[in-house]
Amino acid sequence: MQKHYGVSPEELSNVAGLLQSGQIVALPTETVYGLACLALNKFAVAKVFKAKQRPADDPLIIHVSDLTEAKLVCRPDRRAMSLIEAFWPGPLTLVLPKTRIVPAIVTSGLSTVAVRSPAHPVFREVLNLVSAPLAAPSANPFGKVSPTRAEHIKQSFGDGHPPVVDGGPTKIGIESTVVDLSSSRTRILRPGPIDTEAISAILGEEPEMPEPKASRNKAKAPLSPGLLAKHYQPESPLQVFSSTEELMAFLKMEPSIPAATCVITHSPLKEIRFPSKSLKFMHLSESGDPKEIAQNLFARLREADTHSPPLILCPLLPETGIGSAINDRLRKASFKD
Ligand code: TXA
Ligand code: MG
Repeated sequence: MQKHYGVSPEELSNVAGLLQSGQIVALPTETVYGLACLALNKFAVAKVFKAKQRPADDPLIIHVSDLTEAKLVCRPDRRAMSLIEAFWPGPLTLVLPKTRIVPAIVTSGLSTVAVRSPAHPVFREVLNLVSAPLAAPSANPFGKVSPTRAEHIKQSFGDGHPPVVDGGPTKIGIESTVVDLSSSRTRILRPGPIDTEAISAILGEEPEMPEPKASRNKAKAPLSPGLLAKHYQPESPLQVFSSTEELMAFLKMEPSIPAATCVITHSPLKEIRFPSKSLKFMHLSESGDPKEIAQNLFARLREADTHSPPLILCPLLPETGIGSAINDRLRKASFKD
């Protein structure tokens, strides 16, 4: 039988069996790896929250095969139907009114649910074998860098890591775009691979972009529980710059940059050398292509961390297309309380 991204049919049916018995399994999606479980089994969902140490007020995304399965868990409106038609399967999550069968633990008690249909053949085949919606947050401990390779999950969770299906490095590298359609206003809760222009073009209206919150606000129900200013954090402190030029100017002017600081640039640095400083240089792409930068971003932040540098420096991208989504992750990764 055909293998899916090097994963055998035996492994896939084994994984489907584990999920059907209420276990959790890390699976590849086209964006990042997810920690999957049966979405409609509250005990299985509780295991995901526990494994991630995720606060109970941060709801999960439900992954479905298609629109028919989506209708089990949410009530799509006209806007949702056109976005689904244009972008599913793919990296677009829609927040919609939920149906009654969705357990409160999945949505943190909200009346809305986040739903997406992933494009990765491994995840799709597992959905097909399980024949039920799967809840799956990114497979990282809460607040940390999302995994884009199977080994990242083993690294973050250590010896007791959940079972992982290795589908290779993920193609996109950053999490799906989250669009809130639960009221008449269309809001982008998390910028992602499907950019605002693409969404506007389908809907014929400009979506709103709420500002991230500095901290969790217990008193007031948050617009999006995950709309926090601080997230995706590497272990070492990260400092971002508005452009590569600004970063270069900082490197030249600043005599007090600590030794062994890690500098992550968009493409390899050709002309400029810093012989007087023992800095470690890495790059995100050979050509500076924003798609390649997105693919490598989380792996590079993790790699920088393995050197335990006193500081990581990285420039932002021009604020357009997937650049805005990459900048969102870099700002959150560098946010200080
Ligand atoms: O690409 C992705 O979306 C990946 C892969 C595994 O599918 N998943 C992912 O899940 O990034 P997670 O749990 O790390 O992020 C889900 C985001 C969180 O910010 C959460 O607060 C938000 O979606 N969310 C979930 N349900 C929501 C709801 N009902 N209303 C508003 N925001 C919601
Ligand atoms: Mg996450």
